[in-house]
Amino acid sequence: MSELTFSIVKPDAVERNLVGAVLAMIEAAGLTIKATKMIRMTKEQAEGFYAVHKARPFYNDLVAYMISGPVVVSVLEGDNAIARYRDLMGATNPAQAAEGTIRKKYGKNIEANACHGSDGPDTAKTEVSFFFSQLELVN
Ligand code: CDP
Ligand code: MG
Repeated sequence: MSELTFSIVKPDAVERNLVGAVLAMIEAAGLTIKATKMIRMTKEQAEGFYAVHKARPFYNDLVAYMISGPVVVSVLEGDNAIARYRDLMGATNPAQAAEGTIRKKYGKNIEANACHGSDGPDTAKTEVSFFFSQLELVN
């Protein structure tokens, strides 16, 4: 069944001119870019987006990193898109990510790991609507 997922090309990848390379891997994997835009997150947006990790030791650093430069947020569409994009990203720590994954290829470390992808249907829905209006998804 076709579903939507939410993707971020994180600041470390944008800074290294890897936006096109990451989006090309997404498209080559058969996922369709339904909407995309470059933004610079505010501290409040980043805190809200990662609120689930508020109690984690890495939370403050993560928020600082996510607002350190622009990011490219996208909505991806495809059959089983959520799981397929998680597979394409690879493990959170690039050092443990499988060959052929975005994080293996482009991630720098466990924090600056090139990309974000929703981890389930509920988060996908919340994350898409956090950054995109209904109008931007009509195509
Ligand atoms: O992004 P993913 O769902 O794979 O991992 P997460 O556990 O939801 O963590 C969210 C993000 O926090 C990661 O993608 C990393 O950027 C960062 N993180 C970190 O800096 N240090 C950790 N030990 C774990 C995650
Ligand atoms: Mg996660």
